[in-house]
Amino acid sequence: MNGQVLAHEAAPGAGPSVLFAHAFPFDRRMWNRQMAALREVGARGVAADLRGFGGSADMPRITRIDDHADDLARLLDHLEIDRTLLVGVSMGGYVALSFARRHAGRLQGLLLADTKATPDTAEARGMRDANIQKAKAHGAIAIFEGMLPKAFSPSTGDEVKNELRSIAASQTADGVMAALQAMRDREDSTSQLARIAVPTLVVVGEDDLITPPSDAQAMARSIPNATLQSIARAGHLSNVEQPEQFTKMLLSML
Ligand code: MLT
Repeated sequence: MNGQVLAHEAAPGAGPSVLFAHAFPFDRRMWNRQMAALREVGARGVAADLRGFGGSADMPRITRIDDHADDLARLLDHLEIDRTLLVGVSMGGYVALSFARRHAGRLQGLLLADTKATPDTAEARGMRDANIQKAKAHGAIAIFEGMLPKAFSPSTGDEVKNELRSIAASQTADGVMAALQAMRDREDSTSQLARIAVPTLVVVGEDDLITPPSDAQAMARSIPNATLQSIARAGHLSNVEQPEQFTKMLLSML
């Protein structure tokens, strides 16, 4: 692994640090509302573009979730942040669970949103392979359009969908393909949940069909110091679909 640092936005606050890991196939812009809220309370928000996405698209390719976790640790080193609250939604949650395993000492707390600890089933792995081919042929936007039927709550309006569509459309096929491979091959994190020692908030959109509330309940039951909160009228991308509710939950952790 080389020593390059992820593209990121870091608020200059002196307060507690909050590091954000985004969902697939987006980038750090999906945290804009939460970053603005943290700025208001003087917290030090850091929103990273995971490797292959946004401003980190040109970094050498990696295809393991663990490598994304190590990238985040390197970013904390770069920013001279010792410990942080790590917030991950969906793929960002997979990265956060890997980070908790590999860099436990850097954590102050965890917020796991619309994610799960279990690995891909054989069927899901097959879908990843099909999506890798789809991204190769039709680009990142085709992957987003494929997610549409399941990604959002029926209550979510076109404005939010279009905002995320435009973020997805700006990603490279290469970055998306590498992430699909990393998610397909990710480890089972279930046995590790019992070892998470920091306060953890598990958040799920009530209408999340991709990582449904049952996944969130299972994680919250297995993490010793966890609470579970669900968000009404939100699907799989709850921090963008219901930013006020999500941000309130986040601020309650600081
Ligand atoms: C995400 O939102 O990050 C993805 O839907 C996660 C996944 O495909 O497993």
